Amino acid sequence: MSLHIGDIAPDFTAETTTGTITFHDWIGEDWVFFFSHPGDFTPVCTTEIGRTAQLSAEFSKRHVKPLGLSTDGVAEHMDWIKDVNDTQNTRVTFPIVADPDSTVARLYDMIHDHESTTAAVRSVFIIDPDHKIRLTMTYPMNVGRNFDEILRVIDALQTADAKQIATPADWVPGSKVIIPTSITDSQAKDLFPQGWTEVRRYLRTTTL
Ligand code: BEZ
Repeated sequence: MSLHIGDIAPDFTAETTTGTITFHDWIGEDWVFFFSHPGDFTPVCTTEIGRTAQLSAEFSKRHVKPLGLSTDGVAEHMDWIKDVNDTQNTRVTFPIVADPDSTVARLYDMIHDHESTTAAVRSVFIIDPDHKIRLTMTYPMNVGRNFDEILRVIDALQTADAKQIATPADWVPGSKVIIPTSITDSQAKDLFPQGWTEVRRYLRTTTL
């Protein structure tokens, strides 16, 4: 199943390293960083699971719950987590979905048959508290994800929601934002009393 931005993230019930979860209930009022891996006891994945654990304070600050997945079972995941904790100098506390029959991976289109017919590629789904898919990224098996970028896009989505803005190329928190063309100048006066710069009629920038 191919999933798009704006779709409701499909619900599922699965075993994880912290017990059985029913996805939509588990989300609660939070955002989710749902990310898949080709397999346990593999080097790139080990660094990614470790990095996610190291960043747990950054995720919780943003009300984001990480959820990993690979198409292995709970027992293997639990053994692997010991290695991740040891080698990445961290403590993995977020759940990793066990998906030995690839049910969830197929549901989320994480298996790309020309890469592997059994192992997931490195998919990312950022899902909001309304269960809506807000962002997707897909990396091949041999390229680890950039976690600064993952936190950056979460910041961009949450800032856009809160402040009715869009973010330009290479935006980072604190830098200039864009006033969307859907907002008239008169609405902008209320929303952005600090004013803005009109570079073109369609390109207005401001600082929050
Ligand atoms: C890795 O995590 O290192 C990896 C897993 C599967 C294929 C290639 C790399």
